[in-house]
Amino acid sequence: MKETITICFTNNKGGSGKSTTCSNVGAAMAQLGKKVLLVDGDMQLNLSLSFFSEEEVLRMAGSEQNLYYAVRSQADLTDFIVPTSYENLDLIPSSTLMSSIEYELFPKWQREFILRKCLKNIKEAGTYDYILIDAPPTLGGWVLNILCASDKVIVPVEASPWGMFGLANMFDFLEDVKEMTPGLEVMGIVVTKADIRKGYYKQTLETLKQTSDETDRVPVFDSIIRIDSSIEWAQDNSAPVVEYKKSSRSAKEYVRLAEEVMSRACR
Ligand SMILES: Nc1ncnc2c1ncn2[C@@H]1O[C@H](COP(=O)(O)OP(=O)(O)OP(=O)(O)O)[C@@H](O)[C@H]1O
Ligand SMILES: [Mg+2]
Repeated sequence: MKETITICFTNNKGGSGKSTTCSNVGAAMAQLGKKVLLVDGDMQLNLSLSFFSEEEVLRMAGSEQNLYYAVRSQADLTDFIVPTSYENLDLIPSSTLMSSIEYELFPKWQREFILRKCLKNIKEAGTYDYILIDAPPTLGGWVLNILCASDKVIVPVEASPWGMFGLANMFDFLEDVKEMTPGLEVMGIVVTKADIRKGYYKQTLETLKQTSDETDRVPVFDSIIRIDSSIEWAQDNSAPVVEYKKSSRSAKEYVRLAEEVMSRACR
């Protein structure tokens, strides 16, 4: 039986590339023969939109076949899995009602661990190699649930001044979460939307690597995702770029990143 590794993509900074990275790392892992379950933890539905048409995503969001209903009723998530059109790749879709999940969870016993309980049977069944969870751009009780359900965290960071702002704060938050779930590992930072022609990009990378070396706290992935309009074309076509345009630079970068993630996760 497989051991299933759960990885979440989190950063309280909006637009840092969490959903794009989660969808493409997941799709690349599936291409590489791993069985992957994606969990859309965000009311913006971006992970779901990476695989299904707007019409289909809204239908799932408006039905009871989504993460919101499952978590709210503390149900086994096995019953909420939807296959994508790609081999080895399934999804649990989200709902716009996820915006109120924190209020729903607030009075519940052991509220930080509800998502972990909902995923328990899927993990124990060992059907999947990886469960990848896309988190919303916040650091509240719901993201805490996502972190407590995860073995590892990946932090996508946009190579921009505001992309860097607040990072230390988030890593302090992750340190606090580790006290609740000591097994949680911060796998590292992935630099996204990089424009390597810009001087600022080089400064960002140097600062991140220097901080990582000095604090020995958060590694930086060798794979870097550069800015590429193929990503937007792919998203416009409800597909991850690793499937939509395999020959594109970003598709190749995401396959390399997926390989690096798998080798660091020892799979
Ligand atoms: N490498 C890239 N090149 C070009 N555009 C990109 C790249 N990566 C992401 N984008 C675009 O940047 C925007 C933000 O990306 P994404 O939605 O993945 O970030 P996010 O962190 O999930 O955002 P949020 O915090 O709102 O959930 C999207 O419009 C996406 O198309
Ligand atoms: Mg997102």
